[in-house]
Amino acid sequence: MTSRERFLAACAAQPLDRPPLWLMRQAGRYLPEYRALKAKSSFLEMVRTPALAAEVTLQPLRRFAFDAAILFSDILVIPEALGQGYKFRDSGGIAMEYRLDTRTQIDALAPAAAVPDRLRYVADTLILLKRELAGHHALLGFGGSPWTLAAYMVEGGSSEDFARIKTLFYTDRAAFDALLEKLSAALIAYFKMQIAAGADAIQIFDSWGGVIAGADYEAASLRWIRQIIAALPREFPVILYAKGTAPHLTDQAFTGARVLSVDWTCDLAIVRRTLPANVAVQGNLDPVLMATEPAIVRREAARLLESMRGTAGHIFNLGHGITPDAKLECVEALVETVTGWKN
Ligand code: CP3
Repeated sequence: MTSRERFLAACAAQPLDRPPLWLMRQAGRYLPEYRALKAKSSFLEMVRTPALAAEVTLQPLRRFAFDAAILFSDILVIPEALGQGYKFRDSGGIAMEYRLDTRTQIDALAPAAAVPDRLRYVADTLILLKRELAGHHALLGFGGSPWTLAAYMVEGGSSEDFARIKTLFYTDRAAFDALLEKLSAALIAYFKMQIAAGADAIQIFDSWGGVIAGADYEAASLRWIRQIIAALPREFPVILYAKGTAPHLTDQAFTGARVLSVDWTCDLAIVRRTLPANVAVQGNLDPVLMATEPAIVRREAARLLESMRGTAGHIFNLGHGITPDAKLECVEALVETVTGWKN
């Protein structure tokens, strides 16, 4: 069976001899070949140039036996396509061009219908990748959740306390809803474009889903995600990653997402037993492990695999993105442990 078939079978919660494996942020700064390319082109140049973006996407697959390739891009291309650009702060983190804080600014964003045209380079990258992968590996597209994107837009970049986006939610719900409605429409158009260009699955990153009050998670984030999934082709594999939202896993399982990607704070075997059998789970080693030692990675990966023995519907991953200080020998140890596993 090809890696792509293995990946899609796991999304459909079918039993497998071993889970498919990929890592969030698998193309990135822990790879010397990524750092070499980045010395010549900026991150945004790489994202906007299909040949470069495709090359970076493929780098981790040349080195490691991952089962899926994830498009090299960023969730912030959506705010940018709507008229709010971004850059990286020298001190780390994201700086948006301006802070979105009035209804007038929200209404002045570009129409959602402009997104596929403005992000045409993403479709071109996926088309290149589809050809290059030749059906062997799964090809993943992705985007941010409306809530997570709105947080960057309203905070004006990376944030410590998310006070501005929460204040908008509590003080001007009409403006908040107008922004999230626009983002949802933009994401629907964007994901449809990615699917048409060859994506086998789409991961929605609700990276900041865990910062809103639990009782408000539905209104702030989950309802918009559900609306997006409902607009995509029926049964198309959508993976929902939401960090810090363990109490909401059951509600997430009824959004139409085929796979829930869970962070490392959850015991994955318990999550597996709790969720409906037709919803797959993805995860969830602590990314910190990848900067320790190969023997530790082997031990912890085997422990996770053993805890999942006899279950169906598991995609092996980390609980969040791999960090720049990850060691290549730790990634290799993880790949050997997972690909050598027998259920
Ligand atoms: O998984 C992959 O390999 C695909 C590529 C990918 C990137 N960003 C590349 C990237 C994906 C899926 C993302 C998603 C993304 N971007 C998220 C959601 C996932 C998550 O981590 O929760 C978020 C919140 C962003 C926004 C963003 N982009 C942040 C917070 C940063 C880090 C800024 C910093 O201080 O370093 C980025 C930059 C970024 N996106 C890099 C990469 C490889 C590093 C850029 C570099 O090379 O300097």
